[in-house]
Amino acid sequence: MRVGILTGGGDCPGLNAVIRAAVRKGEMAYEDLFVGFRDGWRGVIEGLTMPLNIEACRGILPRGGTILGSSRTNPYKVERGPERCKETLADFGVDALIAIGGEDTLGVADRLWAEGVNLIGVPKTIDNDLSATEVTFGFNTAVQICVDAIDRLHTTAESHDRVIVCEVMGRHAGWIAVHAGIAGGAAAVLVPEEPFDIDEICANLVRRHSRGHFASVIVVAEGATPREGTMVTSSADVDAFGHARLGGIASLLAPEIEKRTGFETRASILGHIQRGGTPTAFDRVLCTRFGVSAIDAVHDGAFGRMVALHAGKIVRVPLADAVAELKTVDPELVAVAELFHF
Ligand code: F6P
Repeated sequence: MRVGILTGGGDCPGLNAVIRAAVRKGEMAYEDLFVGFRDGWRGVIEGLTMPLNIEACRGILPRGGTILGSSRTNPYKVERGPERCKETLADFGVDALIAIGGEDTLGVADRLWAEGVNLIGVPKTIDNDLSATEVTFGFNTAVQICVDAIDRLHTTAESHDRVIVCEVMGRHAGWIAVHAGIAGGAAAVLVPEEPFDIDEICANLVRRHSRGHFASVIVVAEGATPREGTMVTSSADVDAFGHARLGGIASLLAPEIEKRTGFETRASILGHIQRGGTPTAFDRVLCTRFGVSAIDAVHDGAFGRMVALHAGKIVRVPLADAVAELKTVDPELVAVAELFHF
């Protein structure tokens, strides 16, 4: 078969590991030929391709980013976008397409599948907010990067008797914040799912510091918002999928905390560092399993499905289930984090 592969949305540790695994098994077990589409859906719309075979995949298992490139192009926002995608696939003789991406990329995959394209999805996002899988690849690596950073921020906070507000990614779901906050011993974890109360945070900090703590690290997800009317925030631009470009809540919070508590407070925004570089061993194994399962799904004709992790096993779920709604943070996990806010 001739199989296309694309990577869409924000880059993510492990993308190359998925590509490598699918290509390796496809060539070896099924004698497949591959077409690498450049820059996500943009490559399919515009016919931008690159050669993809075992040779092209040598050495990429530990490499961050994606050899295919990525973009947030949405074919449904481009004139004749879906039609052009289908024309390109026909021109290149592509029998099936593996789309590696998050909610947006896989949402497009689901719509194109409904229009007759043979599609298989692979769940990618450091945010871990895709439904129908226990975990997305890249999340484990992002959390580890954040925890390493929080450990370092602790030593500075302790040396200078400071509060440090560490901002992590997570527009609509606080999975990274809550995992990194628990693992990093945060004095507060603020997630998009629950608007925060600045007075409550400050009161906790004052109580905590009166009990012998001289320093605190607060972990805030970029999409966390204050309870209405309690703090002024700014609005942001939106991308092709209508998502706000965030990054800045820590810079708003830090002076507010300093003003209200008198504790010297700094902001530290981890930003794209969380998405860059080499995947953890956990993610490499998960990506390899996802890649192998994706090409198996192609040969089983299980189109319109996404490979997913359920109770340690790789299963196939409808793409529609994966993108129907965002998987938000488990309140039980938030409750665990809150135990350490004092
Ligand atoms: O979707 C993953 C993500 O990392 C979000 O957590 C974050 O808001 C966004 O990407 C940032 O994307 P960009 O690369 O466009 O700045």
